Amino acid sequence: MKGVVLAGGLGTRLMPLTKVTNKHLLPIYDRPMIYYPIQALVNAGIRDIMLVTGGNNAGDFLKLLGNGKEFGLRHLNYTYQEGEGGIADALRLAEHFADGEAICVILGDNIIEGHIAHAADTFRQQKIGAKILLKEVKDPQRFGVPVLEGERVLKIEEKPARPRSAYAVTGLYFYDAQVFDIIKTLKPSGRGELEITDVNNAYIAAGTLTWEVLKGWWTDAGTIESLHLANQLVCQTGANKREA
Ligand code: G1P
Repeated sequence: MKGVVLAGGLGTRLMPLTKVTNKHLLPIYDRPMIYYPIQALVNAGIRDIMLVTGGNNAGDFLKLLGNGKEFGLRHLNYTYQEGEGGIADALRLAEHFADGEAICVILGDNIIEGHIAHAADTFRQQKIGAKILLKEVKDPQRFGVPVLEGERVLKIEEKPARPRSAYAVTGLYFYDAQVFDIIKTLKPSGRGELEITDVNNAYIAAGTLTWEVLKGWWTDAGTIESLHLANQLVCQTGANKREA
């Protein structure tokens, strides 16, 4: 399985912190934000990783990460997203890199306490389709929210005004190679982006999406409040710790 870290976007919700730099280069406690999702993939045994970035500061990622030596990697792949097309648009750029293999995708502003090796293993056994990781949150209306019926996900609603469950769809996704064909069928949403939620809904419609609840804390860091929370959580307990 290959890994894709999505680190594009303009980070408008963090202005003026993102006026002269990329959101994913901002500090979370003692490391730049981008370190955490890369480490999460490496901890899951994923060594072949591509970073999708964009905006004005893309060159800074190369300066910061080089070939990924700090993570025990020999090589890191990079690609550049033009404009602000959304998460699924950024993922589209990894098609050539994935080359028919399954991928684990992580959003560059998602920080986890634990690790995802177990979920990666179960997805390897699943062989086709997709897997998402859910987490109970206090403010589901900020996220993709699953509509659940028992163990089944009926659909996912993106930032619903009235969330139909207390779960957020976290920014950690497992996909088979079909994901790139699905992206080609997507239309931009109300916010003008190709939504990852529409990708997941296509897998639900095909009956091939599975889910697990993520253990340990999880947060995004894309707003001032969640960036502050991420700093506190990492300072207090540390991130990307191995499960006992
Ligand atoms: C994105 C996804 C959303 C998901 C979230 C996780 O939201 O669209 O479904 O729950 O990441 O961090 P965004 O950060 O683009 O608002």
